[in-house]
Amino acid sequence: MMRTVDALLSQGRVIEPPSAFREWAWIRDERLYEEAARDPEAFWGRVAEEFVHWFRPWERVFEWTPPRPGTSPPWFRWFIGARLNVCYNCVDRHAQTWRRTKAAIIWEGEPGEERVLTYQDLHREVQKFANVLKSLGVRRGDRVTIYLPMIPELPIAMLACARLGAIHSVVFGGFSAEALRDRINDSGSRVLITAEGGWRRGQIVPLKRNADEALAECPGVEHVVVVHRGVMDATHVPMREGRDHWWHRLMEHASLQCPCEEMESEDPLYILYTSGTTGKPKGQLHVQGGYLVSVAATQKWIFDLRDEDIYWCTADIGWVTGHSYIVYGPLCNGATTVMYEGAPDYPDRDRWWALIEKYRISILYTAPTAIRSFMKWGEEYPRRHDLSSLRLLGTVGEPINPEAWLWYWEHIGGRRCPVVDTWWQTETGCILISPLPGVTPLKPGSAARPLPGIFADVVDEEGRSCPPEVPGYLVLTRPWPALSRTIWGDPERYVQVYWTRFPGIYFTGDAAVKDADGYFWLLGRVDDVINVAGHRLSTMELESVLVEHPAVAEAAVIGRSDEVKGQVPVAFITIREGIPTTTELGEELKGYVVTRIGALARPAAVFFTAELPKTRSGKIMRRLLRDIAEGRVLGDTTTLADPTVVQRLKEMYEERYGEGS
Ligand code: WTA
Repeated sequence: MMRTVDALLSQGRVIEPPSAFREWAWIRDERLYEEAARDPEAFWGRVAEEFVHWFRPWERVFEWTPPRPGTSPPWFRWFIGARLNVCYNCVDRHAQTWRRTKAAIIWEGEPGEERVLTYQDLHREVQKFANVLKSLGVRRGDRVTIYLPMIPELPIAMLACARLGAIHSVVFGGFSAEALRDRINDSGSRVLITAEGGWRRGQIVPLKRNADEALAECPGVEHVVVVHRGVMDATHVPMREGRDHWWHRLMEHASLQCPCEEMESEDPLYILYTSGTTGKPKGQLHVQGGYLVSVAATQKWIFDLRDEDIYWCTADIGWVTGHSYIVYGPLCNGATTVMYEGAPDYPDRDRWWALIEKYRISILYTAPTAIRSFMKWGEEYPRRHDLSSLRLLGTVGEPINPEAWLWYWEHIGGRRCPVVDTWWQTETGCILISPLPGVTPLKPGSAARPLPGIFADVVDEEGRSCPPEVPGYLVLTRPWPALSRTIWGDPERYVQVYWTRFPGIYFTGDAAVKDADGYFWLLGRVDDVINVAGHRLSTMELESVLVEHPAVAEAAVIGRSDEVKGQVPVAFITIREGIPTTTELGEELKGYVVTRIGALARPAAVFFTAELPKTRSGKIMRRLLRDIAEGRVLGDTTTLADPTVVQRLKEMYEERYGEGS
């Protein structure tokens, strides 16, 4: 979603942090920024001591050889020689203090069931499940795939892996059997953890059925642990003898104590797959020490997190936001984190506001796409509930338009809660650009400034820093502790995607512009990645799926701007000779994408065309397709092999969908 720079910068509105908030915030002045600027290494060393319990101290804070093509990992390391256990930090140490009786996780299922796990409960369940994993042969360094709904067993399984030093790979429950299969095989997992199903908008999400379909082509998986979520009778769930085990049966016999492995700071913690510019998802590898340090610190600074807070991040743990800011960040800080399983409009459009009222939630972290849906539904839904417990709001996942920001500030935050717009990526592990709510004057639509210890810039094609108000590429000029270390199984691709465009500098794939105050305004992706309701999708991934359909000869997918979702995929398709282009075929192709990737990738429109606009060298001009789909005047068409193709296509598109639809 490329936003127009002038429209943004001309907004010019500044909201000072509310004084009541500023007075009590953890961070109230610029000292943290100054400390980090003076000596970033010493700064991160100090932060690492403050936020994490180490079994052994580091010999050196940081080591860096900028990655270049042909060089081999590791390219940078943090807290070298230090040892820790992430699970110990998130669970054990709190279970040894007064917090043992504090709620660690407050969970609500879509049908309304509640579960509260104290730190002591969590400590017990995690140890038991770690013993279960051990009994299935899971050891340090082994990969475990987790495909669960938003239920407490999900963080329990993640933490149990962390306890043993096993590497978890969580696959979002909305992904298809095929997407799951590819992720299991790429990671080389021996164990899969799933449930018979979950709830979404009153419908059953058939996780075990998808898993069984995936497992038919996953020869490496030896054991499947199945949580009985309760969406169907256990006797209706086919269990394969010797391979499939019920979670609750294994837990009955699991012993209560399981020691924590002492892990090296640079040992892997997890793999998380994300879409890139090619068809194949990239397994980002995050490590133990640096990841935990940055996530824990940013959680406390940005959300001003306190023991009395009830904190709710609405993401699914299947995405990085859930990993960092539902599980590891809050728990490392000993906080209370809320998990909700289902949809925001079930049974009615006020479900979230009902949850906030019921649990007296004080911090809410969500995505602009959700805010835009609520705006569309109207203020009456939040107005039905007492939202006075809220004191801070956050957003993530895509650029937030100032209108949505102001609606959120006014109708949810009652004009008393700072709104932190947080920019980051799966690769970055933690938030990098964000206001600090007790310090930073807020500009609706801007993610404000890079955090202390983070060095960001906007550069031109040659890598030179752009002056204020000149848009360019967003880059990071120094590694920070949580940056992903490599792509699982493909270190060359890691160097090529992130470090080659500007050698020695991390390339984000985003465009941005700085204003005269040094605030960053994010403008959207510059590559073939689109952002659908805050979910990253690769247009190439959709294209490569579509061309596998027997009727399709060629496919080009683009992101079209959408009022609620930010962007939606639109497919332009040429069909094989002799096959009629019917509405049914269009629907079939949409469904085909859903079964191959997941519902989030469903094209909003499929448009059939005899030809796609191409350059003389045969490259599809996606830029022109975007112009057509968004009803703009066509850009430069001089490089096209046949300029009439695109003109005809534009006319046909407008005839079918109306101008600008
Ligand atoms: C976009 C999600 C503008 C951006 C944590 C980035 C944002 C991609 C923001 C990463 C924001 C995320 N403002 N754009 N506050 N936050 N993005 O990997 O394009 O799912 O590159 O990580 O989302 O998406 P991912």
